[in-house]
Amino acid sequence: MTAPASSDTLMEDIVGLCKRRGFIFQSSEIYGGYNGFYDYGPLGVELRNNIKQAWWRDFVQCRDDMEGLDSTIIMHPKIWKASGHVDGFSDPMVDCKESKLRYRADQLFFAPVSVDGETIGYVSVVECIDQQEVAEKAAAEMKRKMAKQGDLGPIELKEYTEATPEEYELIPSPATGKPGSLTEPREFKLMFETKVGPLADDSASAYLRPETAQGIFANYKNIVDTGRVKIPFGIAQIGKAFRNEITPRNFIFRSREFEQMEIEYFISPSADWKALHREWIDTCTNWLVSIGLPREGITEDIHPADKLAFYSQATTDLMFQFPHGEQELWGIACRSDYDLKQHQEHSGKSMTIYDEDAKEKYVPHVIEPSLGVDRTLLAVLSAAYCEDEVANDKGKVEKRTLLKFSPKIAPVKAAIFPLLKNKPELVEVAKKLYKKLQRRWNVFYDASGAIGRRYRRQDEIGTPFGITIDFDTVEKDGTVTLRDRDTCEQRRVTEDELIKYLEEQIDA
Ligand code: GAP
Repeated sequence: MTAPASSDTLMEDIVGLCKRRGFIFQSSEIYGGYNGFYDYGPLGVELRNNIKQAWWRDFVQCRDDMEGLDSTIIMHPKIWKASGHVDGFSDPMVDCKESKLRYRADQLFFAPVSVDGETIGYVSVVECIDQQEVAEKAAAEMKRKMAKQGDLGPIELKEYTEATPEEYELIPSPATGKPGSLTEPREFKLMFETKVGPLADDSASAYLRPETAQGIFANYKNIVDTGRVKIPFGIAQIGKAFRNEITPRNFIFRSREFEQMEIEYFISPSADWKALHREWIDTCTNWLVSIGLPREGITEDIHPADKLAFYSQATTDLMFQFPHGEQELWGIACRSDYDLKQHQEHSGKSMTIYDEDAKEKYVPHVIEPSLGVDRTLLAVLSAAYCEDEVANDKGKVEKRTLLKFSPKIAPVKAAIFPLLKNKPELVEVAKKLYKKLQRRWNVFYDASGAIGRRYRRQDEIGTPFGITIDFDTVEKDGTVTLRDRDTCEQRRVTEDELIKYLEEQIDA
């Protein structure tokens, strides 16, 4: 039976497999690595491209109400002033003066420890899947070390951002375990700054974009003026974004250079935005399921009204059960007309559109589904990673690691094997079929080693189909053996049946 790996080791197993099989490497590894940056190897780049292509096909090419865009990473700095990023795009940061480590204050939690109602100290913990358990253990240990008798009070964790100035001195640093070395939270700007042009003064300052969305707003007028768009319509973009995250972590979940797939969907100010928002949430959920994520692993986190940005009418995040816990995968926000109005004011250019149906002119409102490519890839890897047991060529049962990728996004779609590499008649037919399939899909030819071992190598990288050319193929009826990665079942098919089946599974 196939079972997902244990969640305790799942992240480690995925990171190990990604490095071993050439999906993802730590950036600049030969120089000791560079925190928050990752490189995608031969299989990783295929998987990444397949995710992006599926998104582009489903959200741009298959819709009549969507236009595509590819804007620059560095844009006029005034864009970031108008959008509010220059003044407001920051995270609260806290330093440990002793260890020199930095934490995000909203990812650092603390609680007073009380015995029979008397506070005996504080515990702190960095956000993690079992933070409550970790904090409770630390509290029990504190009570034991201080030899206190009585009942331990409940541990109620709070974000460090909610600590009072008196508490800063009492909360222990997670690095040293001792109180007194944590600073009060300060805002840390997340945009990477650079210089453009030969001058190095302040007038040359520019930013690497922290989201692709502003490139869409900045081009909205161009698209309205040149396309034949009609409200409601969307503009979609895939591209790199950069954030100087204080604590990049959990592999590619939070990195400093990542890629986004964003849509700004423009609607009339009088449209039923709640119904349209709901529609987008459902469309996005269905898309995640279509690329292989389990529906039961996706939940909705509705931001409470008092936590919304002042311009936002509503935000719902699609959450996914990642190996390190349930976390945001896709943010779907109703951003009103805030961004367009800001750009209208700062640029002096009108952002109005004439609505032919309503016979009126207005600045549209917007619904923004914003998804990270790298986070989607991590979700896909987590959902696909499985371990089971199968018999090898000699009938001995062995542990098998497999990635159950949907054929739509699998990096290698099929592997073609001649049963024996020293039989030219098998090799010739296998190579001919390989060359034929290669024109349509990314397929792999492998002639070396026992056939069971060759299957296993493909299972580990998630290749859904194995095609073996044997003596029956060349001497009898031309049929090949088609093996299914997940069930290991094999059946004989003709070449026409094979191609039809692959088309249905991969291109559907
Ligand atoms: N334009 C809206 C926007 O950028 P966001 O919630 O900050 O909203 C949208 O980002 C998505 O981008 C997230 O849901 C996540 O998938 C991805 N993302 C954000 N920061 C990331 C990071 N540091 N590393 C990887 N992905 C990130």
